[in-house]
Amino acid sequence: MNQDDQKRASAQAAIDLIVPDLTPDTVLGIGTGSTADLFIDLLAEHQDKFYGTVSSSKASADRLTKHGIKVFDLNQYSHLGFYIDGADETTPELALIKGGGGALTREKIVAACAEKFICIADESKWVNTLGNFPLPVEVIPMAKTYVAEQLERLGGTPKHREGFVTDNGNIILDVHGLTITDPVAIEQHTNHIVGVVTNGIFAQRPADVLLLGTSTGVVTYTR
Ligand code: A5P
Repeated sequence: MNQDDQKRASAQAAIDLIVPDLTPDTVLGIGTGSTADLFIDLLAEHQDKFYGTVSSSKASADRLTKHGIKVFDLNQYSHLGFYIDGADETTPELALIKGGGGALTREKIVAACAEKFICIADESKWVNTLGNFPLPVEVIPMAKTYVAEQLERLGGTPKHREGFVTDNGNIILDVHGLTITDPVAIEQHTNHIVGVVTNGIFAQRPADVLLLGTSTGVVTYTR
């Protein structure tokens, strides 16, 4: 299977996993990115089996709405059965880097509200140590220079994602060159820098299930 087939197979595996547990009251958390898009398209066929969704981005909300799937504000429904989303990197412990699409803060909030976080990804995302993918950090615009200096002290090289504004009106610094051997510590440390909204390490709250599309089929990892 090529990369697109792997993403589609992973998305289909997530559908197969959740559909038996859907009820008319179920509200699902939905992530962002090309794999999440494939999941949304497959989910549309099952929209009579659940109540609606909460989305981690405007882009995914638009896609869900186009399919006729209800999208709610998280403050209306903050207890989600499942959160389904992609990742930019995943370790065997299911710690992730996310935020390649810039939706990391909303993704982290929605993931926090979910009983089960199901990560869907192709095998290019599988790593032993996080950091080859530049770590996205969402930053309040006036703190850009200060935060960049602090991130350099971690050993990384932050680069401003030019021309990109998050759904929350902030900027993204992508930190290159990190070797993240202790993801929980780096996640916490980075989040404590004044001016950081959040960073793209999902280790304090990792995925619960990883459905990894590979060249020979989908492999399931659980925590
Ligand atoms: C969005 O901000 C990211 O966290 C995505 O989940 C991530 O970039 C995965 O995207 P793809 O599914 O397109 O690889």
